[in-house]
Order: sequence, then C-alpha cells, then structure tokens
Amino acid sequence: MARVIAVYNQKGGVAKTTTCVNLSAYLALEGKKVLLIDFDPQANASSGLGHPTKLNEGSIYHGLFGLAEPDALTKPTIFYNYHLIPSSQHLAGALIELVNIPEREYKLKQFIDKIRDKYDYIFIDMPPSLSLLTINGLVAADEIVIPVQSHYFSMEGLSQLLEIIELVHKNISAQGLKVSGAVMTMFDENEPLSHKIAGDIAASFPHNVFKTRIPRSAALSEAPSYGRPVILHDPNSTGARAYEQLAKELIAQETPKQFQMPSQMIPAADPRQEQVVTPLPNESFDSAQDMADILIDIKPQVQSEQPPVVVAEEPVRDTAFYF
Ligand SMILES: Nc1ncnc2c1ncn2[C@@H]1O[C@H](COP(=O)(O)OP(=O)(O)O)[C@@H](O)[C@H]1O
Ligand SMILES: [Mg+2]
Repeated sequence: MARVIAVYNQKGGVAKTTTCVNLSAYLALEGKKVLLIDFDPQANASSGLGHPTKLNEGSIYHGLFGLAEPDALTKPTIFYNYHLIPSSQHLAGALIELVNIPEREYKLKQFIDKIRDKYDYIFIDMPPSLSLLTINGLVAADEIVIPVQSHYFSMEGLSQLLEIIELVHKNISAQGLKVSGAVMTMFDENEPLSHKIAGDIAASFPHNVFKTRIPRSAALSEAPSYGRPVILHDPNSTGARAYEQLAKELIAQETPKQFQMPSQMIPAADPRQEQVVTPLPNESFDSAQDMADILIDIKPQVQSEQPPVVVAEEPVRDTAFYF
C-alpha cells in the first residue's frame, strides 16, 4: 500500500517539482514502485519527465472527473518502476468545475484509492496556491513533505501552511495528515543566510526537518530542459547526491514491517501502446471567478458514498508526527 505524499508549500519556486521528480527517481533506484502525479496546471513535472503537456491527451484532469481510468493516464519514464500521470492546462479549469459537484474535496483521493495498492510511493506535485486543487491534494495524501527555500523564509508563510494542514487534518482528511518533514532546498553552504534560515527552521518548525539539505546545483536546474531527472543528467552532481540521500532518509521512516515486504517490480507501460481517453468535456465558463469564490469553506467531513477507506491497524510510519 503506497505512502501517498503531497509535496506542498503555497509559495512558488521553492523546489516542489524538482523534489518530486528527483526524489521519485531515487526511490525507484532503491527498488520502490513510484507514481508521480503532476497536480499543477503548469505541468512542470510532466515536461521535466519528457511528457510535455498536450491538450488532446489524457491528464490528471480526466482522472479527477472520472473521465479516464488510471491505467489510461499512466505514462512510463526511463525507469520501469517510475510512472507519471501528467497534468495539463485543463486542470486550471477544474478549479471552477469542481465548485458545484458533490464531494468536491475528495475527487483526487477517490482516484488515488483505485491505484494505491500498485505502488510503494505516490507523490503529488502540488500547485503553489491555496485552492480547491490544494485541498484535493492534501485530502488525498497521508503525508506532506514541505520544501523550504534556503534563502527565503517567511515565518508567516510557514504558520499559514501549518494552519492549512491542520484544518485539513482535523476537518476533512479521513485518515489524518502527517508532516513527514520540511526539506531545505537551494542550500548554499557558503551563504550565512542559508545557515541562519536552517537554524530558524530547526528552532521553530514543530515537525521533522530532514537532515539532508538540497544544495543549489546547476545540474538540478538544467535537467528538466532535457526532460529527465538529474540522475540521468549528472548523477555525480551535489544536487543528485542530495536527492539520493533524501530518498534514503524517507525510506528510513518506514517501519520494519514495511521493510519485510520487498517491492515487486512491475513492468513498464509500453509507450507505443495507444491510450484511450474520453474526450474533453465542454469547458467554457461564464466568467473567471475570483480566487475567493474558489476557496472552499472547510467543513466537517461529509459522509462519502464510497466504501469506507481501510485504515492500517498500526501507524505505519514512526518518525512523522500527528498534530
Ligand atoms: N537545488 C536547486 N538548485 C538550483 N536550482 C534549483 C534547485 N531546486 C530547484 N531549482 C530551480 O528553481 C526553479 C523552481 O523550482 P521548482 O521545482 O519548479 O519549484 P516549485 O515547483 O516549487 O515552483 C526551477 O527553475 C528549478 O530548476
Ligand atoms: Mg512546481
């Protein structure tokens, strides 16, 4: 059963996508079966893995609305045990389409529940916003990894982020949402500010902070333009080694029970196979709504018509903390 991990910080440009793409690659190298869901309409993870967005192809948008089954949306990557479900610009429209449908906060969760037994890790590359998409991502996740940019730190931003997580944890999420940890990104050993911010986080962040810090690395910023993770671009770079280390740190959070069940490798999807995707629905809207209209008022969990989610008898990860 997969650990479903949302990589989220409401701030853009903090390395959410870089973390998703590269952490997933190193987990795959460790033998884990990994799925990365690109849940950002900007689709940077999709292009970073060599699947630039195409409007006539299936994307997580179709999965969200039940228009396509997961298998039809899953793309192979260079690793046979590392899959991608791409995003597309349609996802931006989903924000508005979701507003009036029942169980609108649970759509991504319902989609992921269909496939979570196929993977060891499912990452959700989150959009940099607070929206109904964000809520869907956090509700679908068991855990959250928070990238924190080492030369920019806003205590206010972090407090807001923790509040959002707590609201989802207490009000909507069925199984609870754990903070697996914050990870310092774009860290510069020679820059006093990086060290100061790392110290501030260590002192004030109420959850785990990963020991691994991701350094500023040209290889990490170059790799997406080649459509591949850094492991294939420059595996000896400091950035590549750091994500390898972070993958090991994440795996170390698993319980011994999970270690006793070695991953069963699954064959890569055949990229030549034609994928059947339901045509897009009509997406015309009367007007672009204000962000405020899109933000949902978080409310107590509604009774789902779906069968109840089976929650593991024991907490499966022991190093992350509940609120
Ligand atoms: N450790 C790093 N070193 C150098 N550049 C980085 C690093 N991490 C991310 N970047 C670059 O910073 C930019 C923002 O990263 P990205 O992962 O897209 O952030 P987000 O998904 O949070 O918006 C991208 O151009 C990316 O290549
Ligand atoms: Mg991103």
